[in-house]
Amino acid sequence: MGERFFLTTAIDYVNGSPHLGHAYEKTLADALARYQRLCGRSVFFLSGVDEHGQKVQQSARALGLAPQDFCDRQSALFRSLWERLDISFDRFARTTDPSHKETVRSFLRELQSRNLLRFEEHEGFYSLRQEQFVTEKERVEGRWPEIFGEVVPMREPNYFFLLSRFRERIRREIESRPDWILPEFRRNELRAALQRPLQELCISRPKSRLSWGIPLPFDEQYVTYVWFDALLNYVSFAENPDGGSWWPADLQIIGKDILVPAHGIYWPAILDALGLPLPRRLLVHGWWLNRGAKMSKSTGNAIDPLPYLERYGSEALRYFLLREMTLGNDADFSDEKFFQRYQSDLANDLGNFAHRSLSMIARYRGGRVRGWIDSQAGQSEKELASAFDEGAYRSAFDQGDTSTGLSVAWAFIGQANRYVDQAAPWRVARSPDSGERLDVILATLAETLRRIAVCIEPALPRSSRKLLLQLGISERPLLSRSSFAPSRESYPVGLPEPLFPRIEG
Ligand code: MSP
Repeated sequence: MGERFFLTTAIDYVNGSPHLGHAYEKTLADALARYQRLCGRSVFFLSGVDEHGQKVQQSARALGLAPQDFCDRQSALFRSLWERLDISFDRFARTTDPSHKETVRSFLRELQSRNLLRFEEHEGFYSLRQEQFVTEKERVEGRWPEIFGEVVPMREPNYFFLLSRFRERIRREIESRPDWILPEFRRNELRAALQRPLQELCISRPKSRLSWGIPLPFDEQYVTYVWFDALLNYVSFAENPDGGSWWPADLQIIGKDILVPAHGIYWPAILDALGLPLPRRLLVHGWWLNRGAKMSKSTGNAIDPLPYLERYGSEALRYFLLREMTLGNDADFSDEKFFQRYQSDLANDLGNFAHRSLSMIARYRGGRVRGWIDSQAGQSEKELASAFDEGAYRSAFDQGDTSTGLSVAWAFIGQANRYVDQAAPWRVARSPDSGERLDVILATLAETLRRIAVCIEPALPRSSRKLLLQLGISERPLLSRSSFAPSRESYPVGLPEPLFPRIEG
């Protein structure tokens, strides 16, 4: 077994249906998980859903369903979408899982025994949408910002986690680990937030107001605040069958809206309070927008990924999401951009290269190609053999930057197509004494296709598998074995199958 790599995604609220933004995050995490496997690491990829809290309770009630039935139904929706998108998680966390609830309760007991909880009456303003107390300071020109929804005065006794005493520790952590949060400008947002003193964190809700949550182990009149419950999924579902744990995560992938304060402040404080190590890195992505606006259930402008999956297939959607979003920024979804990427990158560049290579091998050599032989390669073959910039590809994926990583792969595909144009095997085939040269060209095409199949795997796992099988390769692809190498004498190659049929926009 190789080095280990543990990565997580945020767990989605089940009160709405999955939209393109959720699909992006899971696809991003999946591509990075697949990249790590391609590097030979043994990966544990954790994703899941967030099933407690007020919003879930309300949505269930509106449909006349018991909350658990509602969660079962909604979670199945998310899972089936992830299946269609080939999201290769190893475990799917549901926060209503009994073992998770037990872990949360035991962690709460632990905090209690460490004197890190305080019971006190709190009077203030409560945001119904965010399910938390808000402070006067958060008002903008006397009004509560839109993100808080309805804000009501509230006075009630609750349990508070003594968050403020962890501020210095988190600040030190950020300063000493420049790459703890990617990208850099998100790290700066968190640094700025930590300049201000922290309020203690209310981690309970009275059952009279909210019953859909994990009861506190030391006071059954209260349930646990949904964020406290949700964050702990990263640890409670990280157990190994042998009793060990994958925690700490090597990479936690989240959207920009849940860095401050949830993952940047609450989470490290909770971990520290429990004596657990902090995650090694947080990768913070931006939002997919619909005509400039964030998609959400409440505004009703969420883009449903299903019609795209049905019309163009999972690979086209995965590729678009991974290629079009510059890491950390927001991106606007549009059908025009989607078609453009589909036609130019998938149908033209990749589809075309695969098709012409396999069909020429079929036509000129009856589907049998010679293995790659270094000494027979001419100048143009050697150039192509070293055209894939594996270093740049790896360093982009190591930073979670799939867009750059894929552009490196596509530069190679572009070079491969230019090679075919220049080598012009159809012309070589017409000259009477060209047997040897044609063999070299076709061997080069097969070897190039093999390398392309490996480096597109994180984004396009189905196409990759299809191409590798056509080349007679069934074992798990590895980047370290993808460079041009003399491998076999000669071998059979399958007929081309269309990967990305041209579509009319
Ligand atoms: N349940 C919490 C997360 C708890 S993690 C311990 C939550 N759920 S969510 O459903 O609102 O969002 C889940 C993830 O999807 C978040 O990382 C969020 O940033 C991401 N996205 C939601 N809408 C998005 C876009 N429009 N674009 C990209 N990602 C966005 O927050």
